Amino acid sequence: MYPLSENLFAPLNSWYVAAWSDEITAAPMERWLLEQPVVFYRRSNGTATALDGRCPHRHFPLAKGRVVEDNLQCGYHGLVFAPDGRCLRVPSQPFAPAACNIVAHPVVDDGTWVWIWPGDPARADLTLLPHTAVEGFRTAVRAYRRVCGRYMLLHDNLLDLSHLEYLHAGGIGSAGAAEVLEHRTQGEDWVKSEREQVDAPCPPHFQALFGYSGPVTRRFGMTCHVPALHVGYDEFAGPAGPLGRFRVCHAITPGRKGETHYFVAASRDFALDDKALTQGMNSALGKTLDEDVAATEAIEQMITSLREEPRDVLVRGDATCVTGRRLFESMIRRELQGR
Ligand code: FES
Ligand SMILES: [Fe+2]
Repeated sequence: MYPLSENLFAPLNSWYVAAWSDEITAAPMERWLLEQPVVFYRRSNGTATALDGRCPHRHFPLAKGRVVEDNLQCGYHGLVFAPDGRCLRVPSQPFAPAACNIVAHPVVDDGTWVWIWPGDPARADLTLLPHTAVEGFRTAVRAYRRVCGRYMLLHDNLLDLSHLEYLHAGGIGSAGAAEVLEHRTQGEDWVKSEREQVDAPCPPHFQALFGYSGPVTRRFGMTCHVPALHVGYDEFAGPAGPLGRFRVCHAITPGRKGETHYFVAASRDFALDDKALTQGMNSALGKTLDEDVAATEAIEQMITSLREEPRDVLVRGDATCVTGRRLFESMIRRELQGR
């Protein structure tokens, strides 16, 4: 599906962000991930649990059931499921057939996010879990958006930072950012794009954060860790020295068909206890995300309403985006071939 070729959807045997850690409580919560319903709850020992969100009996949402002694009971006819997905009880008969078992998804709670492995549980690999903490930086603000658009459009957005100058003009965008040459590096499952602007105007949002409006050297970049995370950096210095450094983690997880979960956590390594600065970051992040989401949803509406799927016109600034799309495609194809 556009912008990927053929009918490729998304890699499943990978870690994706499913929720903020504090969203998972003792009460069942449904979230659609990779076009499947999943039900989350926390057991009495605090362990986050993720089970298929659809009862195999009559497809009732299991999140409408209740947790009984760490097991989940369907709210329709009372089937009971253990945290490992085994069906323990069918009230209308003395035995629980294996056909009633459901999938228990591997999850990891890193204190900020709960990550899920939506593919084959037997292949869940903890060594592939992305690390988002950076020494010296502390998460200052976080945001979530439910986006009415296919997930790859958000990856396209983050793979081409030339949009900062235009989509985010008047906010985090610097004049001239789109013309600066991009330095690109890549590996089997990541691609990184970096830029440096010397003697550039300080973007309006950052003028407000730094209380400074003179020229800046700005270094910024983004690493796309296929398929679920982008980690960006943004560093500013004025003639008198450093002004501030930021890190932003963008987690992108497909939800229902045509819908995407977008989780963002932004950190800084200076003035960590300055509440006014945190508030300023919060409003800058919110405005920036709203612009990205509005663009993504407008593109989604455009391409789904056309008679035929469109083809892109590619320009030099698309090299990282095209590289990223290829990494997604080859990861999906490797998975389809059982590798
Ligand atoms: S639908 Fe769940 S027990 Fe019948
Ligand atoms: Fe953006």
